Amino acid sequence: MLSSNRNSKYKSFFMKTELTFSMIKPDAVERHITGKINAMIEEAGFSIVAQKLIRITYEQAQKFYDVHKEKPFYADLCKYISSGAVVVQVLKKENAIADYRKLMGATNPEQAEEGTIRKKYAISIDQNSIHGSDAPETAQREISFFFSDIELVGC
Ligand code: CMP
Repeated sequence: MLSSNRNSKYKSFFMKTELTFSMIKPDAVERHITGKINAMIEEAGFSIVAQKLIRITYEQAQKFYDVHKEKPFYADLCKYISSGAVVVQVLKKENAIADYRKLMGATNPEQAEEGTIRKKYAISIDQNSIHGSDAPETAQREISFFFSDIELVGC
């Protein structure tokens, strides 16, 4: 008991407050479930420190998903992401990057665990409702792709 208390004390001592990037994708915006997704995000302890509804072009989607440019799904992904409005946002929390990946669930909703956003709302691997950064460098790149420092509230 004592040692597990100690472990959790040390864990929270070393856990850093982080920012992560999130995008609510066209399938979710179209179905008017951005509020429900934001409720899950806030209930999980994240603060939404920046947020905007935008429509991105095919060329912007290509740049944003540059890391996947060799993948067979790249063109369809860019077409889909630029097919409708998206909500881009910056989330703040201790351990935000890993915790948000957990909250989103597996990329393919068929493999997503109960209680995750994708299990609850995603339609398919393409229309999977939400994107989140996978590492600190990616979070920095993705946040600055859409937001300037002045748009991040209280950071
Ligand atoms: P996302 O987290 O936005 O990152 C890239 C996206 O590509 C991913 O979610 C999926 O929506 C989409 N995608 C389509 N096919 C695949 C695949 N086979 N593997 C991974 N991602 C895929």
